Amino acid sequence: MKDQFGRQVKYLRLSVTDRCNLRCQYCMPAFGIEKLPHQAILSMEALGKLADTFIDLGVEKIRLTGGEPLVRKGILNLVEHIGANPKVTDFAMTTNGILLSKYADDLKAAGLKRVNISLDTLDSKKYAKITRGGDLGLVLNGIDAAKRVGLTPIKLNVVLIGGFNENEIERFVMMTRDEAIDVRFIELMPIGEVANWSTAQFLPNDTVLKRVPALAAVPASDPASPAKYYQLPNAKGRVGLISPISCKFCADCNRVRLTAEGKLKYCLHADEEVDLTPYLEDEAALRDVIAHYILEKPEAHQIGSSESVKRNMFQVGG
Ligand code: GTP
Ligand code: 5AD
Ligand code: SF4
Repeated sequence: MKDQFGRQVKYLRLSVTDRCNLRCQYCMPAFGIEKLPHQAILSMEALGKLADTFIDLGVEKIRLTGGEPLVRKGILNLVEHIGANPKVTDFAMTTNGILLSKYADDLKAAGLKRVNISLDTLDSKKYAKITRGGDLGLVLNGIDAAKRVGLTPIKLNVVLIGGFNENEIERFVMMTRDEAIDVRFIELMPIGEVANWSTAQFLPNDTVLKRVPALAAVPASDPASPAKYYQLPNAKGRVGLISPISCKFCADCNRVRLTAEGKLKYCLHADEEVDLTPYLEDEAALRDVIAHYILEKPEAHQIGSSESVKRNMFQVGG
């Protein structure tokens, strides 16, 4: 599956639900979201079937996202289905970690390889504030459970927010010294809820390098990764900087996204999407539609120059 610029699409991000058990301030409105009705969401069978088709078309890496993927009923059946496919060489989940201690053993047994966990602060009061009620203790237990069962390497995703967590940068970085864990700082993207936030809340990622000059660049293990990696001397883990705004990684992009409603998107920031649900019963037509759509994947995203990104993160899965 190649696009018009010769990029091979090998990575599918599969959003299994738009629902979430948190309401992070930068992601969801205070009053919550209007949930999609059940019939608008792909069934577990359809998700499994679509995953099979993408794998047949050349996808080797699958990431389950949300909303929060662990709130979807029957998630373990899907993990088991995808986990059993020998063509999938990397199989991961992006989760907020709240339910992870409950599910870690079963996820590992079902074939999931690793988890990326969203965690923006190590202070329980601040965590409750940014997530509007989340319990930090549950996430920390989830991280421990993931380590214990071997859902590794673990990556923590920290969205940098001016006036909120820049004073915790050093503490997050220090976590990588003694543990084989990657901490990745993500620049806040001005989409959805964040579109009208003040400029002081947007911090460039080089804030991290300025605060921790001991960090030295290390070669990327995956050129298609949006993160640039750094390390403290003799550290076991790495520090990643994901700069979707100030540094474009589109040239090496190898991913597509499928929303929980069955809409395929070639970019996080694209409004163009194609509904795959009419083709679920016709494998040949499905493959044709996917191949044609991917061919049109643009060379670079337009974030910053377009006001029109319609979907929030909880709908696209980051
Ligand atoms: P690995 O497979 O472990 O490298 O994870 P990943 O970075 O592909 O996935 P994850 O869900 O942890 O993504 C972390 C964050 O990176 C997302 O929430 C986004 O903020 C950002 N990101 C991931 N993919 C893209 C992309 O295609 N475009 C942009 N602009 N940002 C992305
Ligand atoms: N900017 C940057 N990251 C965001 N995420 C959600 N909304 C935004 C935003 N506006 C992150 C979450 C999670 C990942 C899936 O996306 O914190 O780590
Ligand atoms: Fe849920 Fe993730 Fe959005 Fe937070 S950022 S509300 S954890 S989907």
